[in-house]
Amino acid sequence: MSDLHDLCKFAQRPVAAKAVEELQFYLKSGIPATYTIEEAYNYTHNIEDEPLTTTTPLHLICTHVPQDIDEAESKVVESMVEMLLEYGAGWCLTDVNNETPGCILIRRGLKRLPIYNQIVAAGIRAELLLRKVSEYDMEVISDTEEVDHERFGDEVPQLVEDKEPLVTAAPKIEKDDAPDAPSQNQESYLQTKLEYRDNALVTKDRQDGVMMSWETDLMRLGCDSLFKGSVVDGEVDSDINVLNIGFGMGIIDTMINEKNPTKHYICEAHPDVLKKLRDDGWYEKPNVVILEGRWQDQLDTLLSSGNTFFNGIYYDTYSEHYLDMLELFDFVVGLLKPHGVFSFFNGLGADRQVIYEVYKQLVEIDLSNYGLECKFTEIEVPKSTLEEKVGSEDSKSVWDDIKRSYWSCPVYYHPEARFIDV
Ligand SMILES: C[S@@+](CC[C@H](N)C(=O)[O-])C[C@H]1O[C@@H](n2cnc3c(N)ncnc32)[C@H](O)[C@@H]1O
Repeated sequence: MSDLHDLCKFAQRPVAAKAVEELQFYLKSGIPATYTIEEAYNYTHNIEDEPLTTTTPLHLICTHVPQDIDEAESKVVESMVEMLLEYGAGWCLTDVNNETPGCILIRRGLKRLPIYNQIVAAGIRAELLLRKVSEYDMEVISDTEEVDHERFGDEVPQLVEDKEPLVTAAPKIEKDDAPDAPSQNQESYLQTKLEYRDNALVTKDRQDGVMMSWETDLMRLGCDSLFKGSVVDGEVDSDINVLNIGFGMGIIDTMINEKNPTKHYICEAHPDVLKKLRDDGWYEKPNVVILEGRWQDQLDTLLSSGNTFFNGIYYDTYSEHYLDMLELFDFVVGLLKPHGVFSFFNGLGADRQVIYEVYKQLVEIDLSNYGLECKFTEIEVPKSTLEEKVGSEDSKSVWDDIKRSYWSCPVYYHPEARFIDV
């Protein structure tokens, strides 16, 4: 623990403006905004190993910001957070409990504080910056180099103090999937055998959930949104064309087909899912057109043909990333009728609530760059998705036989995007 860390624990009340000056002093002296209590502990104990967790000053602020904070104190804390973020404090580093600063505020019921929005805004900026950096293949100059303890040991009094022992256990977080794992990599996913169960579609070997029936209500919302795009000036369109990308368990497609659109396009890439479509008679349905293959290829062909436009487009695939979705937006603007609706399964960042919020705002920004306004409806997800898996017979968790949960947010943000001014 160091003076910088102590400062972020608000031992003195009221939290006074002096704290901002002190923080500035430490940061200007060269202590990184990401200086962790783990690093401080290792330094005092002559431990050379890289710490596994990163409890930063921002984590401490979020842990110690008083529940009964008043307006004046809140302004001070906001200035501290702003300064830390300006100096490069990581908005999504995780501490020993696998929590980001935003996660801590949520757990403490302090999402209402302005510092929560500051963290979300920092996340959006970071994501946009990262995208630019990778777009131009730029090199990022790290500002998180190690503290020169020798130097600052003199200049900054008690930079490192020997305090309570730190828990340095390995993080609880399950390691991210390897880049070539089916959940991360399309090529590998498309070669992986799938298995249909009663309530889920899973990868055979790893039992990763590709689609699960707890999402049925979310699919209902998606289907309803698509058909909102069939009304023009109060009149129902004479030709109602709907496109769904990703068949999975066929939940949304069954709902769409019950509404009997003029043409119902289904784009699906996985051979086992295409077999399911064949076995279940989808190829025989008169109004159904099946686009076999990846949407990246199929929609290109459709767009080039120049004669098919949709009242509704729904997107819900697997093993794709947000950057893929950004590419999809190019096709959406080309294929959607002027009054059409675009919607998608919004699971972006949904395994961590603060990241889910960041993506919600990011997708809004990105769609607006395409002239689409995205509005969200909030609905609660089934409680069973929030239960930890226990593996016993009386388990209430939907994740029991699934390798890893991909959802941990209490509320679903259902997206509905339309062209602006329509
Ligand atoms: C989550 S499931 C879709 C579930 C569906 N919304 C439902 O209601 O059952 C994802 C589906 O997208 C398919 N998929 C993945 N990548 C694809 C791609 N690039 N093009 C077309 N389909 C893809 C998967 O094979 C899988 O069937």
